[in-house]
Amino acid sequence: MRILAIETSCDETAIAVVEAAGDERAARFRVLGDALLSQIDIHKEYGGVFPALAKREHAKNLVPILEAALEEAELLHEDTQVIPYEMRNQLERILEREPGLGGALLELVSVCERPEIDVIAVTAGPGLEPALWVGINFAKALALLWDKPLVAVNHMEGHVISALASGNHVALPSAGSDATLEIKNVRLPALALLISGGHTELVLMKEWLEYELIGQTRDDAVGEAFDKVARMLGLPYPGGPEISRLAESVREDVVRPTSDVGRTTSHTFKLPRPMIGSNTCDFSFAGLKTAVLYLLKDKPNLDEQDKRHIAHEFENAVADVLWKKTELAIQKTSPETLVLGGGVSANTHIRRVFTHSVDTKCPHVVLRIPEASLTTDNAVMIALAAYFRAQRKEFVQPLDTLRASGNLSLA
Ligand code: KG4
Ligand code: ZN
Repeated sequence: MRILAIETSCDETAIAVVEAAGDERAARFRVLGDALLSQIDIHKEYGGVFPALAKREHAKNLVPILEAALEEAELLHEDTQVIPYEMRNQLERILEREPGLGGALLELVSVCERPEIDVIAVTAGPGLEPALWVGINFAKALALLWDKPLVAVNHMEGHVISALASGNHVALPSAGSDATLEIKNVRLPALALLISGGHTELVLMKEWLEYELIGQTRDDAVGEAFDKVARMLGLPYPGGPEISRLAESVREDVVRPTSDVGRTTSHTFKLPRPMIGSNTCDFSFAGLKTAVLYLLKDKPNLDEQDKRHIAHEFENAVADVLWKKTELAIQKTSPETLVLGGGVSANTHIRRVFTHSVDTKCPHVVLRIPEASLTTDNAVMIALAAYFRAQRKEFVQPLDTLRASGNLSLA
């Protein structure tokens, strides 16, 4: 099955073409085309993602990204096509809220053959609704134009499924046609810690693609906390990688105690570990962020050294809470597999803490961490999740029933 997947839930416009075979016992994926355009530089000025701007950028970029993905997949063949008047009207109606997108799409499809794709997939949520809508409307237009079924994908399921994949997909987006991924022998139940800019949740996959919510943040998402603390420290958006860079530089200064890899303690600053001792798998990060704010108020003339140490202590606090809550969830749910997913799972220290902790405290649990290239938002992860939904024939029917769902949940 050949899937064309579209992701526009936040600040990445991404389209991938993936060829998939097999089932959940053993599935193989070949990434034929993978194009992604990040809007980070545009949103940097605002210190975060600005939804109206994200929507406008997606509308501007989707057609060039589609062209790039199809071209890479060698599915773009020049040929003059006559698009019937009625079809043009329908497409324009579907895309009437996305300025310029209908015209650009018609221009492209009038000069190329219908590509050999079996299914169109699109992120339906969660995410920023104005941004989601652009992708959804674009996907509906393609499904209508090429007469293909449409699969609506939960973005968080994309993070879970891609974390279960292993392979040589290491150089996104340039890995191109050499990239293969495999999902096999996943032992259930699988507990997933999903950490991103908008989400922090522990979810249990009891049966394949069936989820139960075990815990979630009561306020800020962990990525949001990284981004806000980075901003307080005068670091650019997105803050996660910046904090990580500073924190790692402190860890490198300290001789690592071999017994507890990378867990250097801060003697300069002390931050709380909110809810770490409570008997719930819920999280809270707002207090941690406020504690950083108070630290900064007490010490208005921070030098670079202080910033590095605050970043270090903040990252330690986050990793401690994430692990403790995951450990509690492991005790409560006895999973066979632990999955780490979402943009924050790119974090070197969190990956290290989880690898080390699972190794020493629950070696019977198989830890699956996505490859770094698949952690932050991309369309390959949407294609992977879509494949298993398409196998179950979970298609959007009729097309106009699909709506953006900013708060779509897995369980
Ligand atoms: O999954 P993602 O790409 O988008 C959402 O669905 O939200 O996650 C983005 C989040 C941002 O908050 C970003 O700061 C964070 O992931 N992030 C990181 C790292 N790389 C990205 N946080 C900590 N350390 C990193 N290395
Ligand atoms: Zn994400």
